Amino acid sequence: MTIRVGVIGAGVMGRDHALRLTRRTAGAQVVAVADTDAERAAAVAAEVGAQVFASAAELIDAVDAVVVASWGATHEEYVLAAIAAGRPVFCEKPLAPTREACDRILDAEVAAGRRLVTVGFMRRDDPQYLAMKEVVVGGAIGAPLLMHAAHRNASVPDWFTSEMIVTDTAVHDIDVARWMFDEEIVAVTVLSGRVSRKAQPGFRDPQLLILEMASGILVDVEASVNAGFGYDIRGEVVGEDGTVELSESAGAVVKRAGAAHTRIPGEWIERFTTAFDAEFRAWIDVIASSADSGDHLTVGPTAWDGYAATACCEAGLAALRSGTRERVELRPKPELYCTAPLTEGTPR
Ligand SMILES: NC(=O)c1ccc[n+]([C@@H]2O[C@H](COP(=O)([O-])OP(=O)(O)OC[C@H]3O[C@@H](n4cnc5c(N)ncnc54)[C@H](O)[C@@H]3O)[C@@H](O)[C@H]2O)c1
Repeated sequence: MTIRVGVIGAGVMGRDHALRLTRRTAGAQVVAVADTDAERAAAVAAEVGAQVFASAAELIDAVDAVVVASWGATHEEYVLAAIAAGRPVFCEKPLAPTREACDRILDAEVAAGRRLVTVGFMRRDDPQYLAMKEVVVGGAIGAPLLMHAAHRNASVPDWFTSEMIVTDTAVHDIDVARWMFDEEIVAVTVLSGRVSRKAQPGFRDPQLLILEMASGILVDVEASVNAGFGYDIRGEVVGEDGTVELSESAGAVVKRAGAAHTRIPGEWIERFTTAFDAEFRAWIDVIASSADSGDHLTVGPTAWDGYAATACCEAGLAALRSGTRERVELRPKPELYCTAPLTEGTPR
C-alpha cells in the first residue's frame, strides 16, 4: 500500500521532507504540494513528480496524509482542516505558536476520538538521544537528578529575535526534557547576561534556561545562536550513580599528530538527517498498518506534546521578560493522550 502524501509549505523543511518521503521512505509518495509562494510549490512539485494545489483544502481532500511545513502561525488552520477530513497530519514544530491555538487542536482531536496529529520533534528519533534515554530508563546511572544541555547554532538570519531563541531553538530541548524523563515541566527561568559581540544590537544571545521537572529534576539549557564554529548539540544526564552523555560525534574521530579531529555539522539538517528519516519512516509505517483499523494514526510526539511545548515556551517568554521563574500551568490531560498507540515505530 502506498500512502499518498500532500506537503503544505515548500520551504527549507517542506522541500527536505518531500525529498525524504519520495526518495528514502518506503511506502510513501508525495503527490501534492501547496505553498502561498506558487514558484516554490512548482519547484518542489517538479522535483518529486507531484501536482501543485492552489488550495490547501483541495490538497487535503486529494491525499491520504498531510505534512504541514509552512510558517508556525499558519499550522493551526491546516492541522484543523486535516483533523476535520480524518487525515493523519505530520506538523512541523511548533504545533501552533500560542496555547489557545493548541487548545483548539486538542479539542478537535479529542472530538474526533482518534489521534491524527504527529508533531515534528525529531530528536526523539535520533540514535544518540535514544541511546541516552535507554541508559536513563534502564536505571544504570540511578535516579536522574540533573540534565545539562547545549543547543548552539553557527549563526541565524537578521530577522531572528531574542524570543525565537526560546520558541525556535530551546523548544527542542524542552521537548527532549519532557520525553527523556516522561514528566512535565512545571517552571521555567530564562537568564541572559553578557551578550556575544556577534549578536545584533539588542539581541539577547546567549540565554540560559532552567527547566524544573515535576519530580524535581533540574535541566539547564544553554541556547546560543552565534557559535560560529558549527551546529553543536550537547546533552548529559546526571544520575545518583553515574552520568550519560550524547556521544561527541556520530561520525569518525581521527587522531593524528597529537590531536583528535571530528566533524561538527554545519546545521540541523545535517546533524539530524537520520532522525528526520526515522520519524517519517515510523509515521508512514503506522499509517499503513493502522489506516483501516480505526486505531490512532500517530506515532511519537502527539498534539499533547505540541501543546505542552508551546505552554513551556510561553512561560519561557514570560521569564525572559520578567527575569524571574515562571510557572507552567497545563490544562488537564485528555484521556485520548493517556493511552499508548497500538503500533510503535522506533522505541520512544
Ligand atoms: N524540526 C526542526 O528542526 C525544524 C527546523 C527548521 C524549521 N522547522 C519548522 O518548519 C516550519 C517551516 O520552516 P522553514 O525553515 O522550512 O521555513 P521556510 O520559510 O523556508 O518555508 C516556509 C514555507 O511556508 C510557506 N508558507 C507561508 N505561509 C503559508 C501558508 N499560509 N500556506 C502555505 N504555505 C505557506 C512559505 O511561502 C515558505 O515557502 C516552521 O514551522 C519551522 O519552525 C523545524
